[in-house]
Amino acid sequence: MLLSVQAMTKTFPGTRALDAVDFDLRAGEVHALLGENGAGKSTLIKCLTGAYHRDGGTVTLDGAQITPRSTVEAQELGIGTVYQEVNLLPNLTVAQNLMFGREPRRWGLIDGRAVRARAREVLTSYGLEIDVDRDLGSYSVAIQQIIAIARAVSLSGKVLILDEPTASLDAAEVRMVFDVVRSLRERGLGIVFVSHFLDQVFELTDRVTVLRNGQKITTESTADLDRVRLIEHMLGRALEVEVSDQSADETYHRRPEMLSFRNFGRRTVVEPFDLDVTKGEVVGLAGLLGSGRTESAELMFGVRSAQTGEARDQTGKLDLSGPRAAIAAGFGFAPEDRKTDGIVADLSIRKNIVLGLQARRGWARPIARAEQNRLADDYIARLDIRTSGREKAIGDLSGGNQQKVVLARWLAMNPRFLILDEPTRGIDVGAHAEILRLIRELTQAGMSVLVISSEIDELVAVADRVIVVRDRRHVAELSGRRVTGDEIMRAIASDDEEGDAA
Ligand SMILES: Nc1ncnc2c1ncn2[C@@H]1O[C@H](COP(=O)(O)OP(=O)(O)OP(=O)(O)O)[C@@H](O)[C@H]1O
Ligand SMILES: [Mg+2]
Repeated sequence: MLLSVQAMTKTFPGTRALDAVDFDLRAGEVHALLGENGAGKSTLIKCLTGAYHRDGGTVTLDGAQITPRSTVEAQELGIGTVYQEVNLLPNLTVAQNLMFGREPRRWGLIDGRAVRARAREVLTSYGLEIDVDRDLGSYSVAIQQIIAIARAVSLSGKVLILDEPTASLDAAEVRMVFDVVRSLRERGLGIVFVSHFLDQVFELTDRVTVLRNGQKITTESTADLDRVRLIEHMLGRALEVEVSDQSADETYHRRPEMLSFRNFGRRTVVEPFDLDVTKGEVVGLAGLLGSGRTESAELMFGVRSAQTGEARDQTGKLDLSGPRAAIAAGFGFAPEDRKTDGIVADLSIRKNIVLGLQARRGWARPIARAEQNRLADDYIARLDIRTSGREKAIGDLSGGNQQKVVLARWLAMNPRFLILDEPTRGIDVGAHAEILRLIRELTQAGMSVLVISSEIDELVAVADRVIVVRDRRHVAELSGRRVTGDEIMRAIASDDEEGDAA
């Protein structure tokens, strides 16, 4: 056994994050670590890499007991880690990032030529032929991710830990990263893979370990598992198979129109588009990453201003000159990058939830504490935010639970038009269904929602109508029975304009 963890325990105030967890990793395997938000995945990894100090248990690497005191020490021992957010320096070159801290030297000075040559050599071994003199930040997240992997592996080279490495990659980029992971498996590394994407788990991994509430539930070979059983392990209950209501609501045309965007666009961002949103409707925005989905939303919310066209409601033209104006017009926008955009880490969950509401009211009129408590408790329950209480710092929540808090902040403001960019990314299967249900519930109460998602099944389940965006243009609109996975895929993939383009 390459790596073996026995009875690992870690407690935070009020939370037993790991409760005597056993885990083992073979050389030459990809081992998935799965579980709901807050199950303890990241904590286990951080204890392995020395980022946290475990309270109890033993870790054996290649037959020797280890207790890394820092991530640097863990790396020296042979355990490298790559997180979802690339932790490299975007304005240094690729070569500098790769070789940082271990540059070849001549006469005691860094040998720039040797640095570049060595970097090129390393990347070629990963099948990447790129210019190592360019800034890291000028490359796609996937390439940055691979460079981070290359760095982690060349530093240590026995165990590679990937914590949600594919969360912000598109399908083609995921394939690139997977190719690299597979080649490392062939070289005999043990790889731990944390992800909420079950398709990826089935595609890539050899074994699966499921954690729940800080305890190890099972370790099994991936080939022996089916999806339903895996999810049941994660949830700890039988799955109620939910027939996604196909929401083929043929009548939405008769609902009162609430908002209309006409000829709305900005050069080099999104070509001018028309979009009507009726009250209580869910509109989906589908398209590949970089197609102009998020940019369309940013125009509508005033993050970037539209150069052409206008937006109106029944009362007339709307001022969408900036996010503040958009909020005043009753809009809300929970952006994709919630981790960096949305949270104030050292404030409590309660304060993070009421933040938006308070800002809109003005700070001179504080929301009564009892009302704040009620709101916070209500959303903690409705979104199943796993915490020991509303006064906990949001920074101590697991990643997925932090996202739910940001979502709660927008819901609490009760906008009439809410834009959700990838609302379920990083959120586990149980909460996933819960959020889709919540969206339907909100629309029944009259809210209109625009959902941007890479998961086509999710759009099919929740949207009344789907707009497909491709190459910065709204190329197709599907409604009623045409909202199917096949139709959406076809519109994303085809290279001609649909007859009924939006
Ligand atoms: N620094 C911390 N201080 C206090 N509690 C923490 C801290 N880090 C994690 N926890 C708690 O430990 C539990 C496990 O969290 P962890 O981050 O390991 O979950 P996770 O499985 O990675 O979830 P996710 O899928 O949401 O990333 C959670 O209840 C979390 O609130
Ligand atoms: Mg985590």
